Amino acid sequence: MPDLIPVLDKKAIARKVTELARKISLDYKDAELVMIGVLKGAFVFMADLIREIDVPSLQIDFVCVESYGCDSQTSGCPRVKKDISTDIRGKDILIVEDIYDSGLTLDYLRNHLESYRPRTIKICALIDKPERRQVDVKVDYVGHKVEKGFLVGYGLDYAEDYRQLPGIYHLVL
Ligand code: IMP
Ligand code: MG
Repeated sequence: MPDLIPVLDKKAIARKVTELARKISLDYKDAELVMIGVLKGAFVFMADLIREIDVPSLQIDFVCVESYGCDSQTSGCPRVKKDISTDIRGKDILIVEDIYDSGLTLDYLRNHLESYRPRTIKICALIDKPERRQVDVKVDYVGHKVEKGFLVGYGLDYAEDYRQLPGIYHLVL
């Protein structure tokens, strides 16, 4: 069995979610905000985050971008598996991602969503993990920085397992 070493517990994640939600609420108080969660990993973070955001206008959608197979190595080639269905033209978009890792997914996704001509696009990532960075992307809201290692829990998977864990762990195979 692989080892799970605790990195962030439920409380530490919740405190950060509250902090991020406060910043986002202030920044988008006059906006037509559409938050776009990146499936599957960001679904838990997205669900917690939106319930603490207080803005007059908020819609949500999801996009599924695949760049990982059933292992921990990036394929280096993201593609849209499921696109958004919301008309985001002229709207203020906040991409909600679990991990900013190599940067390939966020770089690709920003370009993809820009083609729909939103008014603004910003990015929120729960975790910034610089170890495998290949492309620098401007991430406007960052939760926690974790230098390295493979993380699971709180929506994050290894070969589709561990997403249900309330905390975040290093997976040691
Ligand atoms: P990037 O394109 O390399 O930045 O990878 C981003 C995607 O890879 C994220 O959306 C995650 O779903 C996945 N990913 C990257 N690092 C990890 C990790 O440590 N655990 C689980 N998934 C990860
Ligand atoms: Mg992901």
